[in-house]
Amino acid sequence: MEIHPHHGAMPEIHPTAWVAPGAHIIGDVHIGEGAGVWFGSVLRGDMCSISIGRFTNVQDNTVIHIESEERDHPCRPCIVGDYVTIGHACIIHGCTIDDRVLVGMGSVLMNWSHIASDTILGARALVSERKEIPSRSLVLGIPGKIVRELSDEEVGHIMHSADTYRALAQSYRNPGTPFTVPGLEPRR
Ligand SMILES: CC(C)(COP(=O)(O)OP(=O)(O)OC[C@H]1O[C@@H](n2cnc3c(N)ncnc32)[C@H](O)[C@@H]1OP(=O)(O)O)[C@@H](O)C(=O)NCCC(=O)NCCS
Repeated sequence: MEIHPHHGAMPEIHPTAWVAPGAHIIGDVHIGEGAGVWFGSVLRGDMCSISIGRFTNVQDNTVIHIESEERDHPCRPCIVGDYVTIGHACIIHGCTIDDRVLVGMGSVLMNWSHIASDTILGARALVSERKEIPSRSLVLGIPGKIVRELSDEEVGHIMHSADTYRALAQSYRNPGTPFTVPGLEPRR
């Protein structure tokens, strides 16, 4: 992993978090307990801060950046909550993602958008600027549209995804630890 200070701000990474080789973490970035940032991702906290919650995973080749200014807000941090899965190759820009959200691979979230908890964005969804997505939504397409409310089973799948990636990150962090996911045989 590459950790870069910017203007005196050094990334703060919780000792139990795992950042993969080849990921770049720059400036005012906070990574929470048990979180994972996967190969090739870039979290660039130069113009404002980025916060990654507990047990959240940011999968390979995702880019997270922030917006510098809006009329009334000199700086708008990018905040990602707890137990969030951000799939491979997403662009997460200047937005807020609440707890227990699954962002499908290849999705783009634009400035000042807000994704409320227990929501799934399907693969390649685009959430446009300032869009408010309410809790328990399934969002698909470009531009992203709310197609229906999630079932309890689907909400459970969001946690399952976060737990799987949490275990997977720990298996990289501590080689030799069996990779165990509820319902699957352990892998050594
Ligand atoms: C959206 C998703 C959750 C499935 O939802 P679902 O309601 O079970 O969808 P289904 O697979 O039954 O498909 C229903 C319809 O939605 C379409 N659809 C499925 N995923 C879609 C997507 N991401 N964008 C647009 N349309 C999609 C299907 O083609 C199908 O269309 P049809 O009715 O015209 O045939 C899933 O496809 C998805 O995108 N998951 C994200 C997985 C991911 O990226 N995880 C992170 C990496 S590990």
